[in-house]
Amino acid sequence: MLSIDGLQCTYGTAPIIQGLQLDVGEGEVVSVLGRNGMGKTTMVRAIAGMRPPEVRGGAIRLYEDDLVTLESYEVARLGVGLVPQGRHVFGSLTVIENLEVIARAPRHDADSWTVERVFDFFPRLDERREQFASNLSGGEQQMLAIGRALMTNPRLLLMDEPSEGLAPIVIGTIKETMRSLKGPGLSILLVEQNLGLALSLADRIAVMGPHGQIVWSGSPEALDADEAVKRSHLGV
Ligand SMILES: Nc1ncnc2c1ncn2[C@@H]1O[C@H](COP(=O)(O)OP(=O)(O)OP(=O)(O)O)[C@@H](O)[C@H]1O
Ligand SMILES: [Mg+2]
Repeated sequence: MLSIDGLQCTYGTAPIIQGLQLDVGEGEVVSVLGRNGMGKTTMVRAIAGMRPPEVRGGAIRLYEDDLVTLESYEVARLGVGLVPQGRHVFGSLTVIENLEVIARAPRHDADSWTVERVFDFFPRLDERREQFASNLSGGEQQMLAIGRALMTNPRLLLMDEPSEGLAPIVIGTIKETMRSLKGPGLSILLVEQNLGLALSLADRIAVMGPHGQIVWSGSPEALDADEAVKRSHLGV
């Protein structure tokens, strides 16, 4: 459903991504792993229509649409939800307000997300619905960031390091949540540095190396068995 072909991105004149190839199939969970600064967030921003970076070449296709020329709200309307790195919830709004302000892609089937469905999904948020988001724990803010992305009724969910800065037990909760999201109606592109999370959730893993290029891809089992790739590109 998502097909990135020969993508090139810069910040100003600095080339960051120089020829990225990546595909995500329908209902597939693909995890992109890679060290700090390789270009993972740059890729996510490029897909979501956020600028910078500037896109200098290549295509990002969602089915038949090329996303490269679209504004971020147009990409969202096509069914691409974003859980940004660092979460970025609105701290001065309450939990419920954070969910209600989301512009929603119209959808009238059983997969449509509502505020109450998000609260069923995250009981912790339900208990805190009137609290300001700034008062939530890191894990709760991550749940809220995921809930906000779900409110757009995505077909593709972009998640940029959802485990960053969270305690192992909280990462476990997020993992179970994401596992229950897996299904034919939702594809997930999961950017991570947490190898364990990627290994347990992904159908396929791609490792990003220098210049934002994919240097390895394969099954979670194959990656786990490949000590050389883990050592040289993931620092484990
Ligand atoms: N707004 C910006 N202007 C200029 N350079 C930037 C900007 N944002 C990122 N960069 C640079 O682009 C490169 C890729 O950054 P990016 O944030 O995509 O890496 P990343 O793989 O997401 O890293 P991390 O795992 O630390 O989040 C880095 O060298 C970074 O310093
Ligand atoms: Mg990043």
